[in-house]
Amino acid sequence: MQIKKQRESWGSRVGIIMAVAGSAVGLGNFLRFPVQAAQNGGGAFMIPYFISLFLLGIPLVWIEWTLGRFGGGFGHGSAPGAFHSIWRKNRFIKYFGVIGIFGPLIIFIYYTYIESWALAYSVFSLLGKYSSCAGTSSAMQSFLHGFQGLEKNSYFNNMAFAYLFFLITFIANISVIYYGIRGGIERLAKIAMPLLFVCALILMVRVLTLGTPDSTKPSWNIVNGLGFLWNPDLAALGNAKVWLAAAGQVFFTLSVGIGVILTYASYLSRGDDVVLSGLSAVGTNEFAEVILGASIIIPAAFIFFGPLQMQAIAKSGAFDLGFITMPMVLNRIPLSSLFGFLWFFLLFLAGVTSSVSLAQPAVAFLEDEFNINRERAVRIFAIVSFILCQPVIFLLGRGLINELDFWGGTFSLVLFATIETLLFIWVFGMEKAWEEIHTGASLGIPKIYKFIIKYVTPLFLFFILGFWFIQQGIPTILMHNVSAANRPYVLFTRVGLLIIFLVLAFLVKIAWRRKRKAREAFSL
Ligand code: ALA
Repeated sequence: MQIKKQRESWGSRVGIIMAVAGSAVGLGNFLRFPVQAAQNGGGAFMIPYFISLFLLGIPLVWIEWTLGRFGGGFGHGSAPGAFHSIWRKNRFIKYFGVIGIFGPLIIFIYYTYIESWALAYSVFSLLGKYSSCAGTSSAMQSFLHGFQGLEKNSYFNNMAFAYLFFLITFIANISVIYYGIRGGIERLAKIAMPLLFVCALILMVRVLTLGTPDSTKPSWNIVNGLGFLWNPDLAALGNAKVWLAAAGQVFFTLSVGIGVILTYASYLSRGDDVVLSGLSAVGTNEFAEVILGASIIIPAAFIFFGPLQMQAIAKSGAFDLGFITMPMVLNRIPLSSLFGFLWFFLLFLAGVTSSVSLAQPAVAFLEDEFNINRERAVRIFAIVSFILCQPVIFLLGRGLINELDFWGGTFSLVLFATIETLLFIWVFGMEKAWEEIHTGASLGIPKIYKFIIKYVTPLFLFFILGFWFIQQGIPTILMHNVSAANRPYVLFTRVGLLIIFLVLAFLVKIAWRRKRKAREAFSL
């Protein structure tokens, strides 16, 4: 009979709140949110956004924290085990939990690469490497493509720099998880989160005090820049796409439905509060998103490019805005190298605190279900994820990132959230669930939430899943937006994803079979 080892735990309550907030505050807060808001009705976007936050986001946060802590009580730090703890009689439920390892692993393999661009650009800013091409967006784009290995130009001959920064970022991520929950993830969050807020506050103050840089264009000022983002277009509220975008943003930004909160919460003790801790992490994330995220990139771009060009810029998407427009903007202000560095370093910090959380479910799965030590689990994770990152790096521009983001970062999230909600509320039972959420809580949740969690959240989730599947799911599955040249690569990605999912499901099968055999041997 194997001896079950002691599971790790968090060092302090502040530590876990910061770690969960670190997972939540990511590239999504500073790049994705402002673009989504600007594209989907400005201030009006905030109505579906806040409705989704209160009816979907916060209930899911409480469900996932509670489910994680519950599973952790039985020695399970990932979704297959947590689901099995809830519904022991069902032999198949653990396989649904595979989504909670698959999703974060898939996001990890492209997220880390993008995160490494931010690190590279923070160094390029300090060295003034892109300043000669920050005059036009075509030159900046060419710089980016040269760096990514998509074209050869006078700045980059090959993608050696990109690969070097990827290696640094990858090793940094692996080192953090190698040192464990308390010594790695918690310590990183306690350093990186305050630093991230300092960088963001400095940038926000700088942007908000830029006034009217071009006196010949008095309307290109910061107030109108904020207005570009916030002026409500109420007509947008009638559009299902806007509601979908708002709900999607809430999922992405809070890191719910991925499986990472579940894993982080599994290292809590039964008496630890999840109500207030969950809310604190949500509050920190919302401050970083709605206040800081909204006050930097869009207003800054507006005062230099004006309302007409801004429409095109906002449509060009989050990456172009972050890696092409923002360096151009910052290059036009005094101390541009320093502010450029702050911007990209902020993105890197936001990224790294999120990516370590994406790695942890797989590591916890190996540790808990195969009873191996953390160092070995991290080594296995490092080898596998390193191999999986290679196609993303070397086949960039072939549609792989979009495909991975669709299956790992969108579809899996909504599906996983729906399954965990149904399981927790309907299988575990609302009364027990309510009691479990409140165990150790220093704050009572308003009673209305009992109704919301039981009926509104699952209904809302079904609507989202249905609408989303029709509007975005079917066209993506049928590859409507994929060029003919990229189709073989997208198909190759799909086959790869299927294999990864099946391998994970097979590992679940082996782990449970081994446990059953160990139990039988013990009872003989
Ligand atoms: N929640 C993380 C982000 O916003 C994934 O980037």
